Amino acid sequence: MTNLVETARAGLSEAEKGHSLIRGRLDAATFPKYVLVPGDPDRVDVMAGQWDSGEVVQLERGYKVATGIHKGVPIAAMSSGMGSPSLEFVFTDLAALGAHTMIRVGTTGTPRDEIDNGDLIVNDAFVRLDGLTNLYVRPEFPAAASYDVTLALVDAAQRLGHRFHVGTGVTTGSFYAGQGRTAFGGYVSAEGQAIFEEMRRAGMLNFEMEGAALFTLCRIAGIRCGAVCAVIAHRTRGAWNAQGGVERACLVAADAVASLAAWDERARAAGRGHVGAADVGGGA
Ligand code: URA
Repeated sequence: MTNLVETARAGLSEAEKGHSLIRGRLDAATFPKYVLVPGDPDRVDVMAGQWDSGEVVQLERGYKVATGIHKGVPIAAMSSGMGSPSLEFVFTDLAALGAHTMIRVGTTGTPRDEIDNGDLIVNDAFVRLDGLTNLYVRPEFPAAASYDVTLALVDAAQRLGHRFHVGTGVTTGSFYAGQGRTAFGGYVSAEGQAIFEEMRRAGMLNFEMEGAALFTLCRIAGIRCGAVCAVIAHRTRGAWNAQGGVERACLVAADAVASLAAWDERARAAGRGHVGAADVGGGA
C-alpha cells in the first residue's frame, strides 16, 4: 500500500515525501479520482452519509478523508482545513493519489442584496487575494474553474431545485481584517475595508478562504476543478446562519461527480479528449 503512494509522490523530494497526511493510510491504486474538498472535517461525515456508501478515516491534525460510492461512481472527500496553506498540503496529497477532478465544497459570506443565507454559489473563478498563490505564479495567472465541472455543478443545483448563483468570488488570506471585518480589539484594516468595498462594487459574489488556491494549483497541475459554496454569512445584513445550505452544497457536489463521470465516459467512448455538448445531458 505504502509503495503505491510513494510512487505517486515520486515528483517530491525525499524530505517532502515525509510530510504526507495520507501516507500509509490510503492506496493510490484504488483511491477515487473524483474528490470533494470541504474545509471543515465534519463535512466529510455529512458527505459520506449522503452517498450510497462511504467510509471515513480520521487523519492526523484533525483532517478527515472518506471514500465511497455515489450513484455508482467511486468518490472521495478530504477536508482541506482553513486557509490556503492548509489546502496546499491536502491538494498535494490528493494530486499524488492521482485525483483528476477536485471540487471545493465551502462556506462563504456574501455582500450582495440578491443573495440570501442558505443559497449556493457556484464559483467559476476567484480573485487571488489568498497570499499563497503569489508564491507559485505571477499575480496575472487566473484562478479559474474547469468549464465542465462548473456546468456539472450548475446542472446538479438545477436538478435538485436549489437557489443558486454563478460567478466570481474573492479568496482572502484572512477571515477578519482581510474581509473587511473589525478584528480583535476593534482593529480595522484600511486595506481590508478597501478590498471589501472594491470587490463588492466590482460585482464579486462572495468571500472565502480556499478557492483561489485550489483553482490555481489545479490549473498548474492540469487537474480539473470547480467550487460550490453555501452562503452562511450576509455581510451587509450582519446575518450568520447556514439554513441547510451546507448539506445542499455537499449533495450538489456529489451529484456533479456522478454527472461528470457519465459525461467523461461518453467522451471517452466517442474518442473525444474533452467533454463537449454531445456528451452532456442525462448524467446523474
Ligand atoms: N468563510 C469566509 O471566509 N467568510 C465568510 O464570511 C464566511 C465563511
